[in-house]
Amino acid sequence: MKIFVDTAEITEIEQANSWGILDGVTTNPSLLKKAVTARTKAGETLDIETYLERILTTVGPGKPVSLEVIGTTCEAMLAEALQLYDRFNPVAGNTVIKVPINPTLEPDTGDDADGLRTIAELAEQGIPVNVTLVMNRTQALLAAKAGATYVSPFAGRIDDHLRTSIGLSFDKGAYFPAEGLPRADGSGVLDDDGVVSGVDLVASIVHIYSTYGIDSEVIAASLRNPRQVAEVAEAGADIATVPFNVLRGLLRHPKTFEGMRTFVADVVDEYRAFFKSGAKRE
Ligand code: E4P
Repeated sequence: MKIFVDTAEITEIEQANSWGILDGVTTNPSLLKKAVTARTKAGETLDIETYLERILTTVGPGKPVSLEVIGTTCEAMLAEALQLYDRFNPVAGNTVIKVPINPTLEPDTGDDADGLRTIAELAEQGIPVNVTLVMNRTQALLAAKAGATYVSPFAGRIDDHLRTSIGLSFDKGAYFPAEGLPRADGSGVLDDDGVVSGVDLVASIVHIYSTYGIDSEVIAASLRNPRQVAEVAEAGADIATVPFNVLRGLLRHPKTFEGMRTFVADVVDEYRAFFKSGAKRE
């Protein structure tokens, strides 16, 4: 499974990149707002084009960076997508355009198919598209049919939706069981259109794509904790896009800390002396 970092904060991208495990980056308007606001508050005058160029070059060629359109109609999204791609893809050849599966803000206030039209047109032009805000299996199926390179089911937001549907108050980072949450009345588990958790959504999409030989890559998105990352890996997601704090959590286990404390305490003088000699490589 490839690992992307889900952030627009360059220092997080630089750190993740230095670990030697980074395969790409996803951004969205909210992540960009967070990064820009923090920098502006710290007194920085941020030039957005230079900033995005820095992200693209830090990650480098062959490692996709998703930049999202902001329009809500096909016409607007297409124009923005081409503007983004023409301006930023020459920087490191790794720009991917993020397009919402359905840009309508409220039911019946726009054209539900504007996302699909945009994806299809960009795919036709050979521009890689990451389809975002995918919340069910049928959206994922249609996104792939329209030519998406990447499809991003939002696992964490499905878990939020399920918990909210029964009025549960919860911490967004808290683990939600992949096999679903039992209903209070004992009648099975909570579901959203047959899907019982965000991880279940990712697993179902992976299954559908493999059944039909669809080659769009599944990016498990909106991941909130390390266990969810492990579960989407087990489900066969091609990619997990992981917030930096969760990425750091992937490395932690109390027994690893405990083991290190013991190893450090157990080093005998004879062994330590070997390292003190400071032998040089030929
Ligand atoms: C993915 O591409 C999105 O940027 C992201 O995963 C959304 O995560 P959130 O639901 O935690 O905001």
